[in-house]
Amino acid sequence: MANHAGPIGIKRYDAVAMALHWLTAAIIAVAFVLGLTIDDFPKELKSAMINAHALLGLAVLVLALARLLWRRAYPAPDLPATYPQLGRTFARLGHAGLYLLMIVVPLIGIPTLLWRGRGLDFGLFQIASPFARTPEIYRPLTEAHEIASYALIVLAIGHVLAALYHQTIRKDDILSRMLPPRAR
Ligand code: HEM
Ligand code: HEM
Repeated sequence: MANHAGPIGIKRYDAVAMALHWLTAAIIAVAFVLGLTIDDFPKELKSAMINAHALLGLAVLVLALARLLWRRAYPAPDLPATYPQLGRTFARLGHAGLYLLMIVVPLIGIPTLLWRGRGLDFGLFQIASPFARTPEIYRPLTEAHEIASYALIVLAIGHVLAALYHQTIRKDDILSRMLPPRAR
């Protein structure tokens, strides 16, 4: 399906790439807000919220890896021939940074959780932490996790601004590449 030109001539990502893109974007938004607001939940809900945050974050990791694998088999569709070279470089760097951070943020999250002495509850089974709660280790890890997650969100905001720039100023219909044919 990739590389199929639609009626307006723009080539779209395939349905799997689109589904993975929008699902990860939504989960990242929820995981980020949950991460920032964990301390605002009543004490009896905190553990469940940290667990929910960790599971959502792990889903981002799995979906990002799945997307990279999918992308190898079904590469991104060609951009319009008129697309400027500088824009191509920006997009490539930006997308690479997003993929990298979608992997790095959850990867730092895992030791951040385990060094708090917390395990993971997957519902059907649980994994206990092999470590005792050690603030000297989990504090710097939490900080690194937080900084990396801010970097992810800042880059994602830049990415959205780029999409809006294409839509409103360049009017080159790049947004349609990530939307199903009948969405607009
Ligand atoms: C894309 C995925 C993720 C995002 C955007 C994200 C974002 C955040 C943010 C913004 C915080 C708040 C940091 C602070 O204010 O100190 C946080 C805290 C935390 N995150 Fe994540 N995170 C993600 C994935 C994960 C994963 C996969 C795990 C563990 C398996 C995890 C474990 C934690 C823990 C343990 C905390 C500290 C919670 C607390 O304050 O008690 N995160 N995360
Ligand atoms: C956390 C949120 C998001 C993340 C992490 C993210 C990540 C990505 C990545 C990695 C790609 C490159 C896909 C590839 O070539 O394999 C991409 C493409 C794209 N994204 Fe997002 N995205 C997010 C949110 C959004 C939003 C909200 C919009 C719309 C306003 C959007 C619009 C697009 C478009 C139009 C493309 C295709 C760009 C092109 O044709 O080169 N994304 N996104």
